[in-house]
Amino acid sequence: PVLVVDFGAQYAQLIARRVREANVYSEVISHTATVEEIAAKNPIALVLSGGPSSVYAEGAPELDARVFDLDLPVFGICYGFQAMAQALGGTVAHTGTREYGRTQLSVDGGVLHDGLPATQPVWMSHGDAVTDAPEGFTVTATSAGAPVAAFENAERRLAGVQYHPEVMHSPHGQQVLSRFLHETAGIKAEWTAANIADALVEKIQEQVGPTGQAICGLSGGVDSAVAAALVQRAIGDRLTCVFVDHGLLREGEREQVQQDFVAATGAKLVTVDAVDTFLGALDGVSDPEEKRKIIGREFIRSFEGAVAEVLGENATHGADVEFLVQGTLYPDVVESGGGSGTANIKSHHNVGGLPDDLQFKLVEPLRTLFKDEVRAVGRELGLPEDIVGRQPFPGPGLAIRIVGEITRDRLATLRQADSIVREELTAAGLDQQIWQCPVVLLADVRSVGVQGDGRTYGHPIVLRPVSSEDAMTADWTRLPYDVLETISTRVTNEVSEVNRVVLDVTSKPPGTIEWE
Ligand code: XMP
Repeated sequence: PVLVVDFGAQYAQLIARRVREANVYSEVISHTATVEEIAAKNPIALVLSGGPSSVYAEGAPELDARVFDLDLPVFGICYGFQAMAQALGGTVAHTGTREYGRTQLSVDGGVLHDGLPATQPVWMSHGDAVTDAPEGFTVTATSAGAPVAAFENAERRLAGVQYHPEVMHSPHGQQVLSRFLHETAGIKAEWTAANIADALVEKIQEQVGPTGQAICGLSGGVDSAVAAALVQRAIGDRLTCVFVDHGLLREGEREQVQQDFVAATGAKLVTVDAVDTFLGALDGVSDPEEKRKIIGREFIRSFEGAVAEVLGENATHGADVEFLVQGTLYPDVVESGGGSGTANIKSHHNVGGLPDDLQFKLVEPLRTLFKDEVRAVGRELGLPEDIVGRQPFPGPGLAIRIVGEITRDRLATLRQADSIVREELTAAGLDQQIWQCPVVLLADVRSVGVQGDGRTYGHPIVLRPVSSEDAMTADWTRLPYDVLETISTRVTNEVSEVNRVVLDVTSKPPGTIEWE
Protein backbone atom coordinates (compact mmCIF):
# COMPACT_ATOMS: atom_id res chain seq x y z
CA PRO A 1 0.00 0.00 0.00
CA VAL A 2 0.77 3.68 -0.01
CA LEU A 3 0.98 4.46 3.71
CA VAL A 4 -0.48 7.74 4.89
CA VAL A 5 1.38 8.64 8.06
CA ASP A 6 -1.12 10.27 10.38
CA PHE A 7 0.33 13.19 12.29
CA GLY A 8 -2.80 13.57 14.33
CA ALA A 9 -4.94 16.00 12.40
CA GLN A 10 -8.23 14.83 10.96
CA TYR A 11 -6.82 14.84 7.44
CA ALA A 12 -5.16 11.43 7.19
CA GLN A 13 -8.29 9.49 6.27
CA LEU A 14 -9.24 12.06 3.71
CA ILE A 15 -5.78 11.80 2.16
CA ALA A 16 -6.06 8.01 2.10
CA ARG A 17 -9.34 8.37 0.26
CA ARG A 18 -7.83 10.76 -2.26
CA VAL A 19 -4.96 8.37 -2.92
CA ARG A 20 -7.49 5.66 -3.66
CA GLU A 21 -9.40 8.03 -5.92
CA ALA A 22 -6.17 8.05 -7.92
CA ASN A 23 -6.64 4.25 -8.14
CA VAL A 24 -3.85 3.40 -5.73
CA TYR A 25 -4.45 1.37 -2.58
CA SER A 26 -3.63 3.20 0.65
CA GLU A 27 -3.80 2.72 4.38
CA VAL A 28 -3.46 5.05 7.35
CA ILE A 29 -0.70 4.42 9.88
CA SER A 30 0.03 6.34 13.06
CA HIS A 31 3.10 8.56 13.30
CA THR A 32 3.96 6.55 16.40
CA ALA A 33 4.78 3.54 14.19
CA THR A 34 8.49 2.80 14.11
CA VAL A 35 10.46 2.71 10.90
CA GLU A 36 10.54 -1.08 11.24
CA GLU A 37 6.76 -1.24 11.57
CA ILE A 38 6.39 0.95 8.52
CA ALA A 39 8.78 -1.22 6.52
CA ALA A 40 6.94 -4.37 7.63
CA LYS A 41 3.84 -3.12 5.79
CA ASN A 42 5.75 -3.23 2.50
CA PRO A 43 4.71 0.26 1.44
CA ILE A 44 5.30 1.43 -2.10
CA ALA A 45 5.27 5.08 -1.05
CA LEU A 46 4.60 7.28 1.98
CA VAL A 47 2.43 10.34 2.35
CA LEU A 48 3.08 12.47 5.42
CA SER A 49 -0.15 14.13 6.52
CA GLY A 50 -0.89 17.49 8.04
CA GLY A 51 -0.81 17.89 11.80
CA PRO A 52 -0.29 20.62 14.37
CA SER A 53 0.49 24.04 13.01
CA SER A 54 4.20 24.01 13.82
CA VAL A 55 7.04 21.52 14.00
CA TYR A 56 8.18 23.57 16.99
CA ALA A 57 4.88 23.28 18.83
CA GLU A 58 5.08 21.64 22.22
CA GLY A 59 4.66 17.89 21.88
CA ALA A 60 4.66 18.10 18.09
CA PRO A 61 5.04 14.59 16.69
CA GLU A 62 8.48 13.91 15.36
CA LEU A 63 9.37 12.37 12.06
CA ASP A 64 12.04 9.69 12.30
CA ALA A 65 14.52 10.71 9.58
CA ARG A 66 15.32 7.04 9.01
CA VAL A 67 12.12 6.69 6.96
CA PHE A 68 14.08 8.32 4.15
CA ASP A 69 16.61 5.48 4.29
CA LEU A 70 13.84 3.13 3.15
CA ASP A 71 14.38 4.61 -0.29
CA LEU A 72 10.65 5.06 -0.86
CA PRO A 73 8.85 7.84 -2.71
CA VAL A 74 7.61 10.30 -0.07
CA PHE A 75 5.07 13.11 -0.37
CA GLY A 76 4.82 15.62 2.48
CA ILE A 77 1.68 17.68 3.08
CA CYS A 78 1.54 20.79 5.29
CA TYR A 79 2.99 19.65 8.60
CA GLY A 80 4.39 16.58 6.86
CA PHE A 81 6.06 18.90 4.35
CA GLN A 82 7.71 20.90 7.14
CA ALA A 83 8.73 17.77 9.01
CA MET A 84 10.25 16.46 5.80
CA ALA A 85 12.14 19.72 5.18
CA GLN A 86 13.51 19.64 8.70
CA ALA A 87 14.51 15.98 8.60
CA LEU A 88 16.39 16.41 5.33
CA GLY A 89 18.34 19.52 6.33
CA GLY A 90 16.13 22.37 5.14
CA THR A 91 15.00 25.27 7.32
CA VAL A 92 11.64 25.78 8.95
CA ALA A 93 11.18 29.21 10.53
CA HIS A 94 8.67 31.31 12.42
CA THR A 95 8.04 33.82 9.67
CA GLY A 96 5.39 35.67 11.61
CA THR A 97 2.98 35.42 8.68
CA ARG A 98 0.23 32.98 9.23
CA GLU A 99 -1.65 31.74 6.21
CA TYR A 100 -5.05 30.32 6.72
CA GLY A 101 -7.67 29.53 4.09
CA ARG A 102 -7.77 30.25 0.40
CA THR A 103 -4.38 31.44 -0.85
CA GLN A 104 -2.89 32.17 -4.28
CA LEU A 105 -0.10 29.80 -5.24
CA SER A 106 2.49 30.71 -7.89
CA VAL A 107 3.89 27.70 -9.65
CA ASP A 108 7.27 27.47 -11.34
CA GLY A 109 8.08 24.23 -13.12
CA GLY A 110 8.40 20.79 -11.60
CA VAL A 111 6.54 17.53 -12.02
CA LEU A 112 3.74 18.01 -9.49
CA HIS A 113 2.16 21.07 -11.06
CA ASP A 114 3.01 20.30 -14.66
CA GLY A 115 0.20 21.33 -16.98
CA LEU A 116 -1.66 23.17 -14.22
CA PRO A 117 -2.29 26.95 -14.08
CA ALA A 118 0.72 29.07 -13.12
CA THR A 119 -1.32 30.71 -10.39
CA GLN A 120 -4.00 28.74 -8.63
CA PRO A 121 -5.99 28.88 -5.41
CA VAL A 122 -4.96 26.44 -2.69
CA TRP A 123 -6.03 25.83 0.89
CA MET A 124 -3.38 26.77 3.45
CA SER A 125 -3.26 26.32 7.18
CA HIS A 126 0.14 27.01 8.70
CA GLY A 127 2.05 29.25 11.07
CA ASP A 128 5.66 28.33 10.38
CA ALA A 129 7.05 28.11 6.90
CA VAL A 130 9.85 26.33 5.09
CA THR A 131 12.37 29.05 4.21
CA ASP A 132 15.09 26.87 2.69
CA ALA A 133 14.49 23.66 0.82
CA PRO A 134 16.86 20.79 1.65
CA GLU A 135 19.84 20.28 -0.61
CA GLY A 136 19.05 18.64 -3.91
CA PHE A 137 15.48 19.93 -3.91
CA THR A 138 13.97 22.39 -6.37
CA VAL A 139 11.46 24.94 -5.14
CA THR A 140 8.48 24.70 -7.50
CA ALA A 141 5.89 26.98 -5.91
CA THR A 142 5.60 29.97 -3.61
CA SER A 143 2.89 31.97 -1.94
CA ALA A 144 2.81 35.26 -0.04
CA GLY A 145 3.36 33.55 3.29
CA ALA A 146 5.35 30.55 2.15
CA PRO A 147 8.62 31.27 0.32
CA VAL A 148 8.85 27.53 -0.23
CA ALA A 149 5.30 26.30 -0.88
CA ALA A 150 6.34 23.18 -2.80
CA PHE A 151 9.57 21.34 -3.47
CA GLU A 152 10.68 18.27 -5.35
CA ASN A 153 13.64 16.01 -5.73
CA ALA A 154 12.70 13.94 -8.76
CA GLU A 155 15.74 11.69 -8.58
CA ARG A 156 15.01 10.58 -5.00
CA ARG A 157 11.24 10.58 -5.73
CA LEU A 158 10.60 13.01 -2.88
CA ALA A 159 8.20 15.95 -2.99
CA GLY A 160 5.96 18.02 -0.80
CA VAL A 161 3.54 20.92 -0.63
CA GLN A 162 2.72 23.39 2.13
CA TYR A 163 -0.97 23.50 1.21
CA HIS A 164 -3.65 20.85 1.57
CA PRO A 165 -4.14 19.18 -1.83
CA GLU A 166 -6.70 16.77 -0.32
CA VAL A 167 -9.38 19.35 0.41
CA MET A 168 -12.01 20.59 -2.00
CA HIS A 169 -10.77 24.16 -1.69
CA SER A 170 -7.58 23.23 -3.55
CA PRO A 171 -9.23 22.65 -6.92
CA HIS A 172 -6.11 21.14 -8.53
CA GLY A 173 -5.07 19.21 -5.43
CA GLN A 174 -6.24 15.84 -6.65
CA GLN A 175 -4.26 16.27 -9.86
CA VAL A 176 -1.16 17.16 -7.86
CA LEU A 177 -1.53 14.10 -5.63
CA SER A 178 -2.18 12.00 -8.68
CA ARG A 179 0.90 13.34 -10.42
CA PHE A 180 3.01 12.51 -7.40
CA LEU A 181 1.71 8.94 -7.30
CA HIS A 182 1.84 8.19 -11.00
CA GLU A 183 4.68 10.41 -12.27
CA THR A 184 7.07 11.01 -9.37
CA ALA A 185 6.56 7.65 -7.66
CA GLY A 186 5.75 5.71 -10.85
CA ILE A 187 2.87 3.77 -9.28
CA LYS A 188 0.34 2.15 -11.61
CA ALA A 189 -3.37 2.92 -11.33
CA GLU A 190 -4.56 -0.57 -10.49
CA TRP A 191 -6.95 -0.04 -7.60
CA THR A 192 -10.19 -0.30 -9.57
CA ALA A 193 -13.60 -1.65 -8.64
CA ALA A 194 -13.14 -4.75 -10.79
CA ASN A 195 -9.76 -5.57 -9.27
CA ILE A 196 -11.02 -4.89 -5.75
CA ALA A 197 -14.02 -7.18 -6.21
CA ASP A 198 -11.88 -10.01 -7.60
CA ALA A 199 -9.35 -9.74 -4.80
CA LEU A 200 -12.04 -9.67 -2.09
CA VAL A 201 -13.89 -12.65 -3.53
CA GLU A 202 -10.65 -14.61 -3.51
CA LYS A 203 -9.94 -13.61 0.07
CA ILE A 204 -13.40 -14.69 1.21
CA GLN A 205 -12.98 -18.07 -0.48
CA GLU A 206 -9.71 -18.50 1.33
CA GLN A 207 -11.20 -17.62 4.70
CA VAL A 208 -14.41 -19.63 4.46
CA GLY A 209 -12.85 -22.63 2.75
CA PRO A 210 -14.49 -25.10 0.36
CA THR A 211 -17.34 -26.22 2.65
CA GLY A 212 -17.85 -23.37 5.18
CA GLN A 213 -21.32 -21.87 5.64
CA ALA A 214 -22.06 -18.22 6.37
CA ILE A 215 -24.94 -16.08 7.47
CA CYS A 216 -25.48 -12.36 6.83
CA GLY A 217 -27.97 -9.85 8.20
CA LEU A 218 -29.29 -7.46 5.55
CA SER A 219 -30.43 -4.05 6.71
CA GLY A 220 -31.45 -2.70 3.34
CA GLY A 221 -28.40 -0.45 3.45
CA VAL A 222 -25.46 -0.32 1.06
CA ASP A 223 -22.83 -1.93 3.26
CA SER A 224 -24.59 -5.13 4.21
CA ALA A 225 -25.88 -5.53 0.65
CA VAL A 226 -22.42 -5.25 -0.90
CA ALA A 227 -20.82 -7.44 1.76
CA ALA A 228 -23.48 -10.10 1.15
CA ALA A 229 -23.13 -9.83 -2.62
CA LEU A 230 -19.37 -10.38 -2.37
CA VAL A 231 -19.76 -13.40 -0.13
CA GLN A 232 -22.50 -14.74 -2.37
CA ARG A 233 -20.17 -14.49 -5.34
CA ALA A 234 -17.44 -16.21 -3.35
CA ILE A 235 -19.36 -19.12 -1.83
CA GLY A 236 -22.77 -19.15 -3.56
CA ASP A 237 -25.53 -20.97 -1.74
CA ARG A 238 -23.44 -21.61 1.31
CA LEU A 239 -24.48 -18.09 2.32
CA THR A 240 -27.88 -17.42 3.87
CA CYS A 241 -29.07 -13.82 4.16
CA VAL A 242 -31.47 -12.78 6.91
CA PHE A 243 -33.63 -9.70 6.65
CA VAL A 244 -35.67 -8.47 9.61
CA ASP A 245 -38.62 -6.31 8.62
CA HIS A 246 -39.33 -4.24 11.73
CA GLY A 247 -42.07 -2.19 10.13
CA LEU A 248 -40.06 1.02 10.42
CA LEU A 249 -38.76 0.95 6.89
CA ARG A 250 -39.48 3.40 4.13
CA GLU A 251 -41.68 2.85 1.13
CA GLY A 252 -40.36 0.09 -1.09
CA GLU A 253 -37.41 -0.95 1.06
CA ARG A 254 -38.61 -4.44 1.86
CA GLU A 255 -39.25 -5.04 -1.83
CA GLN A 256 -35.81 -3.70 -2.67
CA VAL A 257 -34.23 -6.39 -0.55
CA GLN A 258 -36.64 -9.19 -1.38
CA GLN A 259 -36.79 -8.60 -5.10
CA ASP A 260 -34.01 -6.37 -6.39
CA PHE A 261 -31.22 -7.68 -4.19
CA VAL A 262 -32.16 -11.30 -4.70
CA ALA A 263 -32.60 -10.80 -8.44
CA ALA A 264 -29.19 -9.19 -8.76
CA THR A 265 -27.28 -11.66 -6.62
CA GLY A 266 -29.27 -14.89 -6.55
CA ALA A 267 -28.74 -14.96 -2.80
CA LYS A 268 -30.70 -17.23 -0.48
CA LEU A 269 -32.87 -14.95 1.66
CA VAL A 270 -34.88 -15.52 4.82
CA THR A 271 -37.24 -12.66 5.68
CA VAL A 272 -38.43 -12.31 9.26
CA ASP A 273 -41.73 -10.48 9.45
CA ALA A 274 -41.41 -8.89 12.89
CA VAL A 275 -43.65 -5.87 12.30
CA ASP A 276 -46.20 -6.79 14.96
CA THR A 277 -43.54 -7.58 17.52
CA PHE A 278 -41.72 -4.29 17.02
CA LEU A 279 -44.78 -2.08 16.91
CA GLY A 280 -46.17 -3.87 19.95
CA ALA A 281 -43.00 -3.26 21.92
CA LEU A 282 -42.93 0.39 20.85
CA ASP A 283 -46.55 1.02 21.72
CA GLY A 284 -46.94 4.20 23.76
CA VAL A 285 -43.22 4.99 23.76
CA SER A 286 -42.12 8.48 22.77
CA ASP A 287 -38.72 8.86 24.43
CA PRO A 288 -35.99 8.66 21.73
CA GLU A 289 -33.50 6.68 23.79
CA GLU A 290 -36.14 4.25 24.88
CA LYS A 291 -37.20 3.75 21.27
CA ARG A 292 -33.61 2.97 20.35
CA LYS A 293 -33.19 0.51 23.20
CA ILE A 294 -36.37 -1.36 22.40
CA ILE A 295 -35.53 -1.60 18.73
CA GLY A 296 -32.01 -2.80 19.47
CA ARG A 297 -33.31 -5.47 21.82
CA GLU A 298 -36.06 -6.68 19.49
CA PHE A 299 -33.69 -6.69 16.56
CA ILE A 300 -31.29 -9.02 18.30
CA ARG A 301 -34.17 -11.31 19.31
CA SER A 302 -35.54 -11.55 15.79
CA PHE A 303 -32.16 -12.03 14.23
CA GLU A 304 -31.24 -14.65 16.80
CA GLY A 305 -34.47 -16.51 16.14
CA ALA A 306 -33.85 -16.57 12.42
CA VAL A 307 -30.26 -17.64 12.86
CA ALA A 308 -31.31 -20.47 15.16
CA GLU A 309 -33.71 -21.64 12.48
CA VAL A 310 -31.10 -21.51 9.73
CA LEU A 311 -28.61 -23.26 11.98
CA GLY A 312 -31.14 -25.96 12.78
CA GLU A 313 -31.93 -26.50 9.15
CA ASN A 314 -28.34 -26.68 8.11
CA ALA A 315 -27.50 -28.95 11.01
CA THR A 316 -29.95 -31.51 9.65
CA HIS A 317 -28.01 -31.28 6.41
CA GLY A 318 -24.88 -32.05 8.32
CA ALA A 319 -23.24 -28.65 8.00
CA ASP A 320 -22.50 -25.98 10.57
CA VAL A 321 -22.73 -22.27 9.99
CA GLU A 322 -19.60 -20.86 11.49
CA PHE A 323 -19.21 -17.51 9.71
CA LEU A 324 -21.08 -14.27 10.19
CA VAL A 325 -20.76 -11.59 7.51
CA GLN A 326 -20.53 -7.97 8.65
CA GLY A 327 -20.31 -4.78 6.64
CA THR A 328 -17.60 -3.08 8.71
CA LEU A 329 -15.89 -0.29 6.77
CA TYR A 330 -12.35 1.03 6.90
CA PRO A 331 -13.24 4.27 8.76
CA ASP A 332 -14.71 2.14 11.58
CA VAL A 333 -11.50 0.14 11.71
CA VAL A 334 -9.36 3.28 11.84
CA GLU A 335 -11.59 5.00 14.37
CA SER A 336 -11.67 2.09 16.74
CA GLY A 337 -7.89 2.27 16.90
CA GLY A 338 -7.16 -0.32 14.25
CA GLY A 339 -5.37 2.06 11.98
CA SER A 340 -3.86 4.98 13.82
CA GLY A 341 -3.47 6.92 16.99
CA THR A 342 -6.34 9.31 16.39
CA ALA A 343 -8.96 9.45 19.08
CA ASN A 344 -12.17 7.49 18.96
CA ILE A 345 -14.55 10.29 18.12
CA LYS A 346 -17.43 8.60 16.42
CA SER A 347 -20.13 7.02 18.47
CA HIS A 348 -21.28 3.90 16.73
CA HIS A 349 -24.95 3.48 17.04
CA ASN A 350 -25.63 0.61 14.74
CA VAL A 351 -28.57 -1.55 15.51
CA GLY A 352 -27.65 -5.17 15.21
CA GLY A 353 -24.98 -5.71 17.80
CA LEU A 354 -24.92 -9.42 18.38
CA PRO A 355 -25.16 -11.33 21.61
CA ASP A 356 -21.92 -12.83 22.88
CA ASP A 357 -23.14 -16.39 23.04
CA LEU A 358 -23.51 -16.57 19.28
CA GLN A 359 -20.08 -17.88 18.44
CA PHE A 360 -19.18 -16.93 14.91
CA LYS A 361 -16.06 -16.15 13.03
CA LEU A 362 -16.49 -12.77 11.38
CA VAL A 363 -16.19 -12.27 7.65
CA GLU A 364 -15.69 -8.56 7.03
CA PRO A 365 -15.01 -8.14 3.34
CA LEU A 366 -15.34 -4.34 3.40
CA ARG A 367 -12.83 -3.78 6.20
CA THR A 368 -10.36 -2.09 3.88
CA LEU A 369 -12.86 0.03 1.96
CA PHE A 370 -14.25 3.53 2.11
CA LYS A 371 -17.92 4.12 1.40
CA ASP A 372 -17.46 5.33 -2.16
CA GLU A 373 -15.42 2.21 -2.91
CA VAL A 374 -18.15 0.02 -1.43
CA ARG A 375 -20.57 1.65 -3.85
CA ALA A 376 -18.21 1.13 -6.79
CA VAL A 377 -17.77 -2.53 -5.89
CA GLY A 378 -21.54 -2.90 -5.54
CA ARG A 379 -22.03 -1.53 -9.05
CA GLU A 380 -19.32 -3.85 -10.30
CA LEU A 381 -21.26 -6.77 -8.81
CA GLY A 382 -24.39 -5.65 -10.64
CA LEU A 383 -26.39 -4.38 -7.67
CA PRO A 384 -29.13 -1.95 -8.73
CA GLU A 385 -28.60 1.77 -8.30
CA ASP A 386 -31.53 1.88 -5.85
CA ILE A 387 -29.44 -0.09 -3.40
CA VAL A 388 -25.94 1.09 -4.24
CA GLY A 389 -26.76 4.79 -4.41
CA ARG A 390 -28.86 4.71 -1.30
CA GLN A 391 -28.31 7.46 1.23
CA PRO A 392 -27.61 6.56 4.85
CA PHE A 393 -30.66 5.51 6.82
CA PRO A 394 -30.57 4.90 10.57
CA GLY A 395 -31.01 1.38 11.93
CA PRO A 396 -34.04 2.39 14.07
CA GLY A 397 -35.63 3.65 10.88
CA LEU A 398 -38.70 5.84 10.83
CA ALA A 399 -39.16 5.35 14.59
CA ILE A 400 -36.70 8.16 15.26
CA ARG A 401 -38.29 10.37 12.61
CA ILE A 402 -41.68 10.44 14.28
CA VAL A 403 -41.45 12.88 17.14
CA GLY A 404 -43.93 11.31 19.53
CA GLU A 405 -45.48 7.88 19.80
CA ILE A 406 -45.31 5.50 16.89
CA THR A 407 -48.54 4.25 15.37
CA ARG A 408 -49.27 2.50 12.11
CA ASP A 409 -51.15 5.55 10.84
CA ARG A 410 -48.30 7.87 11.63
CA LEU A 411 -45.86 5.52 9.94
CA ALA A 412 -48.06 5.47 6.85
CA THR A 413 -48.21 9.27 6.81
CA LEU A 414 -44.46 9.67 7.16
CA ARG A 415 -43.77 6.96 4.61
CA GLN A 416 -45.91 8.71 2.05
CA ALA A 417 -44.33 12.11 2.65
CA ASP A 418 -40.82 10.65 2.64
CA SER A 419 -41.46 8.88 -0.61
CA ILE A 420 -42.57 12.11 -2.29
CA VAL A 421 -39.53 13.97 -1.01
CA ARG A 422 -37.14 11.30 -2.23
CA GLU A 423 -38.83 11.15 -5.59
CA GLU A 424 -38.59 14.91 -6.12
CA LEU A 425 -34.98 15.18 -4.95
CA THR A 426 -34.00 12.41 -7.33
CA ALA A 427 -35.99 13.96 -10.16
CA ALA A 428 -34.18 17.25 -9.56
CA GLY A 429 -30.82 15.47 -9.80
CA LEU A 430 -29.86 16.43 -6.26
CA ASP A 431 -28.96 13.01 -4.86
CA GLN A 432 -25.23 13.50 -5.30
CA GLN A 433 -25.28 16.86 -3.57
CA ILE A 434 -27.19 15.66 -0.54
CA TRP A 435 -25.72 13.39 2.11
CA GLN A 436 -29.20 12.48 3.28
CA CYS A 437 -32.54 14.15 3.77
CA PRO A 438 -34.48 12.90 6.77
CA VAL A 439 -38.17 13.70 6.63
CA VAL A 440 -39.55 14.11 10.13
CA LEU A 441 -43.18 13.96 11.26
CA LEU A 442 -44.01 16.18 14.21
CA ALA A 443 -46.75 13.88 15.39
CA ASP A 444 -47.52 15.79 18.59
CA VAL A 445 -47.77 19.15 16.88
CA ARG A 446 -50.85 20.36 15.08
CA SER A 447 -51.46 23.60 13.27
CA VAL A 448 -54.43 25.20 11.63
CA GLY A 449 -54.63 25.30 7.88
CA VAL A 450 -57.09 25.87 5.11
CA GLN A 451 -57.59 23.53 2.23
CA GLY A 452 -60.35 23.82 -0.32
CA ASP A 453 -63.12 25.50 1.63
CA GLY A 454 -62.39 23.82 4.89
CA ARG A 455 -60.29 24.35 7.95
CA THR A 456 -57.64 21.67 8.58
CA TYR A 457 -55.85 20.81 11.77
CA GLY A 458 -52.92 18.70 10.66
CA HIS A 459 -49.30 17.91 11.34
CA PRO A 460 -46.15 19.53 10.02
CA ILE A 461 -43.37 17.59 8.41
CA VAL A 462 -39.79 18.81 8.53
CA LEU A 463 -37.32 18.53 5.68
CA ARG A 464 -33.78 18.04 6.92
CA PRO A 465 -31.50 18.05 3.86
CA VAL A 466 -27.84 17.94 4.86
CA SER A 467 -24.49 17.98 3.12
CA SER A 468 -21.65 16.14 4.81
CA GLU A 469 -18.50 14.13 4.20
CA ASP A 470 -18.84 11.72 7.11
CA ALA A 471 -21.96 12.62 9.17
CA MET A 472 -19.73 13.90 12.00
CA THR A 473 -20.40 17.45 10.96
CA ALA A 474 -22.95 18.63 8.46
CA ASP A 475 -24.41 21.72 6.92
CA TRP A 476 -27.97 22.20 5.76
CA THR A 477 -28.22 21.91 2.00
CA ARG A 478 -29.37 24.98 0.11
CA LEU A 479 -32.08 23.31 -1.94
CA PRO A 480 -33.39 25.26 -4.91
CA TYR A 481 -36.64 27.09 -4.12
CA ASP A 482 -38.49 25.52 -7.03
CA VAL A 483 -37.70 22.03 -5.72
CA LEU A 484 -38.88 23.03 -2.25
CA GLU A 485 -42.01 24.42 -3.79
CA THR A 486 -42.79 21.21 -5.68
CA ILE A 487 -42.19 19.13 -2.57
CA SER A 488 -44.34 21.38 -0.41
CA THR A 489 -47.21 21.42 -2.88
CA ARG A 490 -47.17 17.71 -3.46
CA VAL A 491 -46.88 16.74 0.20
CA THR A 492 -49.68 19.01 1.38
CA ASN A 493 -51.91 17.94 -1.51
CA GLU A 494 -51.24 14.23 -1.41
CA VAL A 495 -50.65 13.41 2.26
CA SER A 496 -53.94 14.01 4.00
CA GLU A 497 -52.64 14.38 7.56
CA VAL A 498 -50.01 16.95 6.64
CA ASN A 499 -50.89 20.60 6.15
CA ARG A 500 -47.49 22.26 6.58
CA VAL A 501 -43.95 21.67 5.32
CA VAL A 502 -41.05 23.30 7.14
CA LEU A 503 -37.32 23.39 6.44
CA ASP A 504 -34.62 22.71 9.02
CA VAL A 505 -31.76 25.19 8.54
CA THR A 506 -29.53 24.05 11.41
CA SER A 507 -25.98 22.84 10.88
CA LYS A 508 -24.41 20.01 12.89
CA PRO A 509 -23.30 20.98 15.46
CA PRO A 510 -25.42 22.23 17.14
CA GLY A 511 -28.21 20.10 15.67
CA THR A 512 -27.77 16.40 15.00
CA ILE A 513 -28.81 15.11 11.59
CA GLU A 514 -31.71 13.09 12.96
CA TRP A 515 -34.26 14.76 15.20
CA GLU A 516 -34.13 12.00 17.80
P1 XMP B 1 -26.90 12.13 14.01
O1 XMP B 1 -28.38 12.23 14.15
O2 XMP B 1 -26.23 11.54 15.22
O3 XMP B 1 -26.66 11.07 12.84
O4 XMP B 1 -26.27 13.41 13.57
C1 XMP B 1 -25.42 10.82 12.24
C2 XMP B 1 -25.64 9.72 11.19
O5 XMP B 1 -25.96 8.49 11.85
C3 XMP B 1 -27.25 8.05 11.46
N1 XMP B 1 -27.89 7.54 12.68
C4 XMP B 1 -27.99 6.24 13.00
N2 XMP B 1 -27.58 5.14 12.33
N3 XMP B 1 -28.43 3.79 14.07
C5 XMP B 1 -27.83 3.91 12.87
O6 XMP B 1 -27.50 2.90 12.26
C6 XMP B 1 -28.86 4.84 14.81
O7 XMP B 1 -29.38 4.69 15.90
C7 XMP B 1 -28.63 6.14 14.23
N4 XMP B 1 -28.89 7.40 14.65
C8 XMP B 1 -28.44 8.24 13.69
C9 XMP B 1 -27.94 9.26 10.86
O8 XMP B 1 -28.93 8.89 9.92
C10 XMP B 1 -26.78 10.00 10.25
O9 XMP B 1 -26.44 9.46 8.99
